[in-house]
Amino acid sequence: MIGQLDADVVVGYFTGKSILITGSTGFLVLVEKILRVQPDVKKLYLLIRAADDQSAKQRVETEVTGREIFQVLKQKHGNRFEDFIQEKVCPLAGDIMYENLGLPNAKLTVLLKEIDIIVNGAATTNFFERYDVAFDANVMGAKHICQFAKRCNKLKMLLHVSTAYVAGEQEGILPEKPFQVGETLREGTHLDIGSELNLIKDTRRQVKANRFSETAEKRTMKELGLKRAREFGWPNTYVFTKAMGEMLLGHLRGDIPVVIIRPSIITSILNEPLPGWMEGIRTIDSFIIGYAKQALSIFLVDLDLIMDVVPGDMVVNAMMVAMAAHSEEQAQHIYHVTSSLRNPAPYAVLAESGHRYFLHNPPRSRKNGEPMPLSRMRFFRTLPGFRMYMAVKFRLPLELLRLLNIALCGAFSRRYNELSRKYRYVMHIADLYAPYALFKGCFDDTNTERLRVVMANKQQDKSRGYDFGFDTKTIDWDDYFYRVHIPGVVNYLCD
Ligand SMILES: NC(=O)c1ccc[n+]([C@@H]2O[C@H](COP(=O)([O-])OP(=O)(O)OC[C@H]3O[C@@H](n4cnc5c(N)ncnc54)[C@H](OP(=O)(O)O)[C@@H]3O)[C@@H](O)[C@H]2O)c1
Repeated sequence: MIGQLDADVVVGYFTGKSILITGSTGFLVLVEKILRVQPDVKKLYLLIRAADDQSAKQRVETEVTGREIFQVLKQKHGNRFEDFIQEKVCPLAGDIMYENLGLPNAKLTVLLKEIDIIVNGAATTNFFERYDVAFDANVMGAKHICQFAKRCNKLKMLLHVSTAYVAGEQEGILPEKPFQVGETLREGTHLDIGSELNLIKDTRRQVKANRFSETAEKRTMKELGLKRAREFGWPNTYVFTKAMGEMLLGHLRGDIPVVIIRPSIITSILNEPLPGWMEGIRTIDSFIIGYAKQALSIFLVDLDLIMDVVPGDMVVNAMMVAMAAHSEEQAQHIYHVTSSLRNPAPYAVLAESGHRYFLHNPPRSRKNGEPMPLSRMRFFRTLPGFRMYMAVKFRLPLELLRLLNIALCGAFSRRYNELSRKYRYVMHIADLYAPYALFKGCFDDTNTERLRVVMANKQQDKSRGYDFGFDTKTIDWDDYFYRVHIPGVVNYLCD
């Protein structure tokens, strides 16, 4: 199939297909695109965490099809939009942490006969998630999806969304290579996924036996995740558990066709259907929001380093092309949907375009609506430099406040505790995000480039209004940040 790809073949591929999508409340762009370009898709089954199908339906209406990104589709279908959605979209209450995705038997029987394609986008993406929660979604979830896929009678494709950062903090060129079970990023260690599960169960038992408070339990489980991730060389619980999910999928898949897509940092839509649209605050967006509100004056980042970002519509285009390209192949393919190798964007571009954007569109005071004076941000290129600044500027005054508080018999206790908590939070966030702000790796995307080459000049059908481009080389980053992404962040994320 790969040699014959073009936009029409990709669109045609989805005709009459039944697709199960998990994590759709986080991946609206995919749901929208399939429904827009291929109205003859048979059914999109959206697996949603909800008490029952009726609540799942309500979640889909408010969190998926009711969102602004569906405007173009609404216009296209006019007052038939609701009927179209009713006909094509089937919300299912379920959860990938359970075997059979938590689906009742009757429904399972129907789905196993019906499903052609599975897209597993569901994940817990919090870097500092409880280990048990992240393990359930990102490791057991991948396993359950794989087991479900193997039972589907006519499955043609299982596409699993992972992340390029399963590579941890490695430097240099990072290949699109599968993980072997047990592989780690730290020399001299071996990972046993079964033992990790037992460790989680044992820790849960101890926590219960010792009657930990809810807060203490949460902290224990979160710290356990971070500790285990770092033990094996990953910087946080999220990417560690995503890597284990990939390992299980590769190991258990048998001969089902699997595509693993590893995007880097997904940013706002570049082209269609709504440039600038996004949801959820990403690493780099906290910088823009901090600047927009003039609430952040320092930032830990080396401006000369490359931030690897890729617009959400390009990720979805790559996913759809890869599904069509490898349908029914009894193999596993891995794709980095990234930009650092072919069109690197240094953090300096974002800092400059951000400053220029806010000079031209000054942030306004919440109190009186007046434009606020713009102060430039201060950037720290190393964690020790950042820590030193924080110690002098905040830790030292805090220490003085602590002593004063003791001398005045606790008169400033509340203030001290509050400031101390804030300080610890900032340091913790800096610690968690440092591996990304100071990332020195570069994602090889040879596999993805091969798909791009096949699709070159054949990725669009403008007369029908669709585009399957995912070539990050075509992006002028300064223009994208200035004209699309930063206004998008201001519009959709800053309240
Ligand atoms: N955002 C990025 O920059 C980025 C970059 C690289 C890769 N990725 C990958 O892209 C995917 C989507 O990421 P995102 O940022 O869009 O995440 P997100 O906004 O946090 O969405 C995650 C989705 O997964 C669902 N989910 C979580 N646990 C589940 C479970 N146990 N069963 C069923 N559904 C569950 C969530 O449902 P609820 O609505 O019920 O919580 C939500 O729909 C993830 O696989 C992530 O690893 C994202």
